Amino acid sequence: MADAQGTRHWDENHSRSFLDNGRYFVPERERQIEIIVDLIPPPAPGGLLVELCSGEGLLSHALLERFADCRVLALDGSAEMLEQTRETCRDQAGRLATAAFELGRRYWRTFSEPPQAIVSSLAIHHLDSHEKRTLFADLAAALRPGGVLVVADIVRPPSASGLDIAGRQWDEAVRARALAIDGDLAAFAEFNRLGWNYFRNLDGEPIDKPSSLAEQLSWLAEAGFTEVDCVWLFAGHAIFSGRKP
Ligand SMILES: C[S@@+](CC[C@H](N)C(=O)[O-])C[C@H]1O[C@@H](n2cnc3c(N)ncnc32)[C@H](O)[C@@H]1O
Repeated sequence: MADAQGTRHWDENHSRSFLDNGRYFVPERERQIEIIVDLIPPPAPGGLLVELCSGEGLLSHALLERFADCRVLALDGSAEMLEQTRETCRDQAGRLATAAFELGRRYWRTFSEPPQAIVSSLAIHHLDSHEKRTLFADLAAALRPGGVLVVADIVRPPSASGLDIAGRQWDEAVRARALAIDGDLAAFAEFNRLGWNYFRNLDGEPIDKPSSLAEQLSWLAEAGFTEVDCVWLFAGHAIFSGRKP
């Protein structure tokens, strides 16, 4: 879908494709979710955690499971994804709120109370560099002191060799997941058919605008975050975070 300026955005066809393929196409998905949750200091009872672009709700579910007293606000731009999040978290429905939002706009970035953590997986790369930088500054302002921002996302290696390594690792990861889940390579063939490996096809999908990891860490520091670090990186997918002093 394109807006009045001709910029393309995520639409419900993307949602369905990701719901069908996410379990194969996201490298070390379960480990990534565990690491994101591990990076969050235990919230005060009743504390608010926010997930940006919750997709099918696996990360929100993990937050609700790990922090039994917390509440989660899951935001997404897709009605289908929000429905999936509610379904995935149905056993914790009393502690989950969901709402539609547009990640790139600023109206939602003040919350009814300062969140103890804001997390996001595989979504912020849909913003351009300027939008990411603004987002990080706004989230630093919104968080409670001591709160953390944790981002899991694809990052763009600045060198040709880095792109090649990320591309190869992503292929290997999807191949292994296809075999482990189904015992065959049909999902890997689909990954190739869809041209999903960004590192092999940089201009293939206009909605993907990953920035380098180094840039994003510098934008977090510039926004005032401390303890800025990348704790995990594989196949061009990174988990990085910062803490509001
Ligand atoms: C690749 S999926 C990732 C879903 C989930 N976070 C995960 O890691 O499995 C991207 C998600 O971001 C949402 N999304 C993408 N662009 C968006 C935007 N501009 N505003 C709001 N949501 C957006 C999509 O609806 C989708 O749920």
